[in-house]
Amino acid sequence: EISLKIAAGEVIERPFSVVKELVENSLDASASEIKVELLSGGKNLVKVTDNGHGMRREDAKLCFERHSTSKIRSVEDLSLIATLGFRGEALPSISAVSRVVLKTSDGKEEKGTLIEKEGEKIIQTSDIAFPLGTSVEVRDLFFNLPAREKFLRSDRSELNLIVKFMTFASIAYPEVRFSLIHGKRQLFDYPPVSSLKERIFQVFGKSLLERLLEIDYKEDDRQLYGYASLPPAGHRDRTLQLFYVNKRPVRDRTLLAALNQAYRGFLEKDRYAEAFLFLSYPYTEVDINVHPAKAEVRFKDSRPVFQLVYRSIEQAILKEKGVKKIYPTKEEEMGFRMEEKGRFRIEEERGAPAFMRGKERQREWKDLFTPLAKQEEIYPHVLGQYLDIYIVACSEEGLIIVDQHNAHERILFEKYEEIDKEKKWPQKLALLPILFELSPSQLLSFENSQALLE
Ligand SMILES: Nc1ncnc2c1ncn2[C@@H]1O[C@H](COP(=O)(O)OP(=O)(O)OP(=O)(O)O)[C@@H](O)[C@H]1O
Ligand SMILES: [Mg+2]
Repeated sequence: EISLKIAAGEVIERPFSVVKELVENSLDASASEIKVELLSGGKNLVKVTDNGHGMRREDAKLCFERHSTSKIRSVEDLSLIATLGFRGEALPSISAVSRVVLKTSDGKEEKGTLIEKEGEKIIQTSDIAFPLGTSVEVRDLFFNLPAREKFLRSDRSELNLIVKFMTFASIAYPEVRFSLIHGKRQLFDYPPVSSLKERIFQVFGKSLLERLLEIDYKEDDRQLYGYASLPPAGHRDRTLQLFYVNKRPVRDRTLLAALNQAYRGFLEKDRYAEAFLFLSYPYTEVDINVHPAKAEVRFKDSRPVFQLVYRSIEQAILKEKGVKKIYPTKEEEMGFRMEEKGRFRIEEERGAPAFMRGKERQREWKDLFTPLAKQEEIYPHVLGQYLDIYIVACSEEGLIIVDQHNAHERILFEKYEEIDKEKKWPQKLALLPILFELSPSQLLSFENSQALLE
């Protein structure tokens, strides 16, 4: 019993792990509706109900036994896993450290099955009327492992982890209805939709969708599909970098590195790429059995993976933004002599700095600078604006190039600093309410800091 509890601890760490395992089982059972109900951040109750294919009585009795899985039959199968589960460990681990009630029906047998367990003990097995599908209720997590229970965080932070996971899962399965209820409160209910795009809209709203670029790249039996940031906006942190390998959410260094590298130079300062990207990769080339909670995968060879991700994103960005590489022709090697030629060459290939190019024609240098109204000869003297990003000016000492975005931030910073010093914070009641679209996890953080904002 002790070894079972220890093993359970690797798979089941907190309420979030219970939700993850149960939801993955529902997805493996081809459910089109999954409802998750929680009490106290999942510490007192996690209940997952699905309309999947359910279990026969015989299988329902077996499912709590270690290493009983209906998903693989041989060692060879391990390299070809298309289901989320494969170890036959989740239900035994959960039931070893909580009070579980399983209700299930495969829609073929006369009656459904109810099994009630408390730790290792089976309390009852009985007939019930139950529609096709399964529900698993997990109460009092770690009731028999007080040392573990102490490590659980506040209801809110446990809930936060669950919301994040549910968001990840919803994104991967737009065709499935997901709902999440905490206590009496429904946090979300996403009806089934037919595309990833619509699901991103449901979860994150229109404003995010408008800042995304579609990625669709195929190479033999490898594919990268999804959405990523449309430069130059991006996100203020790396929290919206979601990767899935064969529909399994993963954190993977190679994938993240390829993403960030592909965006280098395309995003504004201190901005990070958003990504909702699905990599389909041959099952034989990726090992998913490397982490107890299946949060990581290992690629047999990570270089081609990096290349694939990098190339597909780069191509999509270049196609959308029409960025071309520019470099001087021979006699202009050290920069372009604008007065003489009036233009420089723009070519497709090879290295050197990237400048923006208009869609139809090559830009003339004059197009790149927006001359400002005539000014008197006072220094610093503004010469113009470059690419909507830099202000170019000259002073007695030389050329000044100002990142206008940064400069603007600086001005605002000084303004607010002044206001703060004087303690004269302006308060205004908007005539019309201003609507913000918040994702479920943003909503929770908002509620956390509401007092501060009022
Ligand atoms: N919601 C469900 N609907 C139908 N069958 C289920 C459901 N949940 C579990 N099962 C059955 O119970 C078995 C055991 O589930 P469990 O999650 O313990 O293992 P697994 O999913 O096979 O592997 P893993 O430990 O990797 O999750 C599954 O193989 C499946 O046959
Ligand atoms: Mg499972």
